[in-house]
Amino acid sequence: MAKPVKKLDPEKMTRSPGVTYQDLLDQDSKPVPEVLRLQAPKDFKADQIPVERYTSKDWHDREVERLWRRVWQFACREEDIPAPGDHYRYDIAGLSFLVVRTESGVIKAYPNACLHRGRMLKEFDGHASELRCPFHGFAWTLDGCLKDIPARWDFPHIKDEDFSLPELPTATWGGFVFINPDPDCEPFDDFIKDLAKQFERWDLSKLYKQAHVAKVMPANWKVAQEAFCEAYHVNGTHPQIMKALGDVNSQVDVWENCSRVITPALTPSPLLEYDVSTEEIIRSMLDIPVGGEVPELPEGMSPRAWSAAASREALRPDAGDLVDEYSDAEMVDNLDYTLFPNFHPWGAFNRIVYRFRPNGHDHRSCIMECIMLAPFQGDRPPPAKVRWLEPDETWSSALGFLGKVFDQDAFNMPKVQLGLETTYNKGLFPSKYQESKVRWLHHKLTEWVEKGK
Ligand SMILES: [Fe+2]
Repeated sequence: MAKPVKKLDPEKMTRSPGVTYQDLLDQDSKPVPEVLRLQAPKDFKADQIPVERYTSKDWHDREVERLWRRVWQFACREEDIPAPGDHYRYDIAGLSFLVVRTESGVIKAYPNACLHRGRMLKEFDGHASELRCPFHGFAWTLDGCLKDIPARWDFPHIKDEDFSLPELPTATWGGFVFINPDPDCEPFDDFIKDLAKQFERWDLSKLYKQAHVAKVMPANWKVAQEAFCEAYHVNGTHPQIMKALGDVNSQVDVWENCSRVITPALTPSPLLEYDVSTEEIIRSMLDIPVGGEVPELPEGMSPRAWSAAASREALRPDAGDLVDEYSDAEMVDNLDYTLFPNFHPWGAFNRIVYRFRPNGHDHRSCIMECIMLAPFQGDRPPPAKVRWLEPDETWSSALGFLGKVFDQDAFNMPKVQLGLETTYNKGLFPSKYQESKVRWLHHKLTEWVEKGK
């Protein structure tokens, strides 16, 4: 039984007029889990975000040294390397790492570099019985111990026991493999604890990687990432979904290393200046064109309860009767979590995981990825391989309806980058509440990159 949670005093909070997310939860047809009742607003004051963070190569270089070389980061899924010898190449900001499943089944990570003359050991993900450099043939076991030096007699200055591959800290959570390039980093359990607590109810390790799509985007990685960190942009960028999305009703919560934006579905945007009928909500939600038949709801049933019931039945064959334990909110709302600095798993069966990375050392482009996780019955299906979209390929060509929305977000990105290069302002002015995830990300970046946490 969930503990009663004290509601925040609306007088002390600046929120959108109209229904709050907590009000919507009160109308749920099922018990609502405590995790959705939590409220953790954070006021970061009205500081500006310095524009140079998106436009300066110096800032990028500092980011590499102070953030990417030192922070815990999502590298791959455990299911990407299921068998001993499987390995995955993970690159970040001009650095390359190798994540390997060893003979004993343990996952290890090494710098992707031969200790002899420095060539990267593996260019591709794959399967191998050893890690052999293609340049001169030095080889290491999957465990990282030196295995072979061709013409060993010529290397009297190398001692086998001193020539193991340096091992980097690794950890797993929710079926994701994390690495940290810094051998002296903080413990992973401390880093993940805020997010892990949020996901106690939603075990992402039980899902499989149904799709993995990546594309190089023409903007700094933070421009791309921040396009997915608030719902305030929906009225400008995705007006077609406003009838079925409580964009500015979103609840934003901030903890130390994680944050979330919960955007309620099947409730109209308070920014619409007219009443929206149930039929229009359903039409918008299901993307039914004008003239197309809209299903009729049973008397007295809310669009949220109706849609949640339909989602439960759609998911039941794969997710089983677990769907009956999930509230309407878990079935229909957008539960968008972020773990600093760039990992975005969504809660419940939302399926989406985003990741945004710098594209090598080009601070004006980035790699955006969307991974879809899905439930399954029986044997785990093989994980999807990464599909790289060409510059002229749309997200909708790979991800359907969701991709259409991404294409609208993607359309903004190069224009934001150009505007940032041009603006005479030194700072950006995100909103106090709705964009507080963006504020939190920059608060963390200040700690890591400017103060050298
Ligand atoms: Fe968007």
